[in-house]
Amino acid sequence: MRDSLAPEHAEPLLTGLFGRPYVYQESCGSTQELLDTEMAEGALAVCDEQTEGRGRLGRSWNAPPGTAILASLLLRPPPKRVVSEISLVAGTAVAEALENAIGLAVQVKWPNDVMLNRRKIAGILAEASDGAVIVGIGVNVNQERGDLPDDTRVPPASLYTIDGVKRERVPLLAAILERLEQNYDAWVGHGLDGVYDSLGSRDFLRGRRVEVNGENGVGVKIDRDGRFLLEVGGEVRAVESGEILYER
Ligand code: BTN
Repeated sequence: MRDSLAPEHAEPLLTGLFGRPYVYQESCGSTQELLDTEMAEGALAVCDEQTEGRGRLGRSWNAPPGTAILASLLLRPPPKRVVSEISLVAGTAVAEALENAIGLAVQVKWPNDVMLNRRKIAGILAEASDGAVIVGIGVNVNQERGDLPDDTRVPPASLYTIDGVKRERVPLLAAILERLEQNYDAWVGHGLDGVYDSLGSRDFLRGRRVEVNGENGVGVKIDRDGRFLLEVGGEVRAVESGEILYER
């Protein structure tokens, strides 16, 4: 299936303020570069192909043209809010929308991965700029197994490699935006408490043996301030940032 995320397909399915304006290019370097921080909150940049897609920690994010959701959303959170929480809010929204589409449990791996069958199905990249936050969302939808990177620490998957179904991306994108707008409004009003029932129940690292910044322990949970709690030798430590390695 080679569907298109062009506005004539996507805009009729958008139900809220997110996705307006809808900035589309068939091919771009990175959707993170297409938004102007002067635009309205909810502005969305979408491409069917990225030539310089970015992941966290300076990594790249690649997908064959027309196979993935590649989108960036402009948010303008209230002052003094912790930007890293937005990755969790967005990850939760993506997990909810994908779970609804595929009918399997989808989890959030702190701080920014979305997991299905213990594989990474989507990633979030939140970048602050001029009081705004540009939230990049990459979802693996129709890639074949050989299209997925083989050099990642977390094994990747697409919805297609999980259940063998090729899907139209536009309804998925619309569902993600709808959930994200609801979750973001809840977060603006109540902080992480506003999404914590869903986030807490999707916590991939809870109870897993993990290594963080060279320290080994057991994941306790994501707390209500968005930190990752880790138990090391009977003591619980709060991790604010970092990358988690885990036992499969
Ligand atoms: C990660 O897991 O490392 C984050 C991946 C984020 C990828 C998305 S794809 C759309 C947007 N544009 C980019 O260049 N990156 C993000």
